[in-house]
Amino acid sequence: MTEMTPVTDAAAAKAPKVPALPDAQTVTEVKHWTDRLFSFRCTRPASLRFRSGEFVMIGLMGDVNPKTGKQKPLLRAYSIASPSWDEEMEFYSIKVQDGPLTSKLQHIKVGDEVILRPKPVGTLVHDALIPGKRIWFFATGTGFAPFASLLREPETYEKFDEVIITHTCREVGELTYGRELIEALKDDELLNEVIGEGFWKKIKYYPTTTREESPKMGRITDLMRSGEAFEDLGVPPLNPDTDRAMICGNLAFNLELKDLFENTYGLEEGANSKPAHFVVEKAFLD
Ligand SMILES: Cc1cc2nc3c(=O)[nH]c(=O)nc-3n(C[C@H](O)[C@H](O)[C@H](O)COP(=O)(O)OP(=O)(O)OC[C@H]3O[C@@H](n4cnc5c(N)ncnc54)[C@H](O)[C@@H]3O)c2cc1C
Ligand SMILES: NC(=O)c1ccc[n+]([C@@H]2O[C@H](COP(=O)([O-])OP(=O)(O)OC[C@H]3O[C@@H](n4cnc5c(N)ncnc54)[C@H](OP(=O)(O)O)[C@@H]3O)[C@@H](O)[C@H]2O)c1
Repeated sequence: MTEMTPVTDAAAAKAPKVPALPDAQTVTEVKHWTDRLFSFRCTRPASLRFRSGEFVMIGLMGDVNPKTGKQKPLLRAYSIASPSWDEEMEFYSIKVQDGPLTSKLQHIKVGDEVILRPKPVGTLVHDALIPGKRIWFFATGTGFAPFASLLREPETYEKFDEVIITHTCREVGELTYGRELIEALKDDELLNEVIGEGFWKKIKYYPTTTREESPKMGRITDLMRSGEAFEDLGVPPLNPDTDRAMICGNLAFNLELKDLFENTYGLEEGANSKPAHFVVEKAFLD
C-alpha cells in the first residue's frame, strides 16, 4: 500500500502553477469528418466583432518549458467558418499528426477551453470587392472555411445574383463538411427568413476530386482552362464587368488562379484599402 503524503501549504506553493488560459473560450461542439479533418464550435468573446471571411489566431497552451517551468500559448491562424452574426464561433481544421498545434487540438472535447485572440483580420471580405453580378469562391482543402462563413452571410446574397463555390480536394470524404453545410442552407429557417425565402437557389456548388473517383474529377484550374467548368455551370468565363472572386487554397493553387485571372480574364486584385475584382488568401503556410 502506498502511503499518501498530505499536501501542505508549502508543498502546494512549490507545485508548478497551471496558468488559466488567456482569452479562453469553451468548446460547445466537435465533429470529425475524416482522419485528417474536423470542425468545432466554441463560445464567442462578447466584445468580438468581425467581418465574414476574416481569420483570427486560435490555439492551446503549449507544453511546460522544463527550464523555466512556464507555458506559452501555441497559436495558429484560423479562418472563422461561422458568419459574423452567429452567437458562437466555428472553425474547420486539418489534423497534422506531428503538427505542434493540431496534434493536440484534434483531441479537444465539449467543455474544453481554447485560446481565441479577438483580433480578426483578412482580405476575403466583401469590402475588398467592387460590386458585380456573380461571385465565385474558389477553395482547396480547408480553404473552404472562410466560404463556410461567407455562404451564411446575408451580404453575399444582397450584393450578388449568383454565388458559385468550387471546392477541389484529393478525396471524396474531404468534401463532406462543405457539402453538408451547403445542403443545410435550404432548411435554415433563420437564413431563409432574414435573407429571403429560397436565397440558396443563387448557389451553384462545384465539388471536384483529384485522387479518388467522384462525379467530377480534376483540378478546378484545369477544368477552367479547358472550358469544362463553365460548360458544366452554364456560365461564361470570368469577366471583369460581371464577375468577382475570392480564392483560398494552397500557395500553388492561389498563384495559378491569380495568374489565370490577371492574364486570361483581365481581373484586377483588390484589397481592403483598394477594392477591385478578386482577393486571395492562403489556406495554410507551406
Ligand atoms: C491566413 C491563414 C488561415 C488559416 N486558416 C486555417 C483554417 O481555417 N483551418 C485549418 O485547418 N488551418 C488553417 N490555417 C493553417 C493553420 O494556421 C495551421 O498551420 C494548422 O492548424 C496546422 O497547425 P500545426 O501547428 O498543427 O502545424 P503547422 O506547423 O502549422 O503546419 C505543419 C504543416 O502542415 C501542413 N498544413 C498546415 N495547415 C494545413 C491545412 N489547413 N491544410 C493542409 N495542410 C496543412 C503544411 O504543410 C504545414 O507546413 C490557416 C493559415 C493561415 C496563414
Ligand atoms: N489529402 C490527403 O489525403 C493527405 C494525406 C496525407 C498527407 N497529406 C498532406 O497534407 C498536405 C496538404 O494536403 P491537402 O490534400 O489538404 O491539400 P493540397 O495538397 O493543397 O491539395 C488539395 C487539392 O488541391 C489540388 N491542388 C493542389 N495544387 C493545385 C494547383 N496548383 N491548382 C489546382 N489545384 C491544386 C490538389 O490536387 P492534386 O491531387 O492534383 O495535387 C487537391 O485536390 C500535403 O502536404 C499532403 O502531402 C494529405
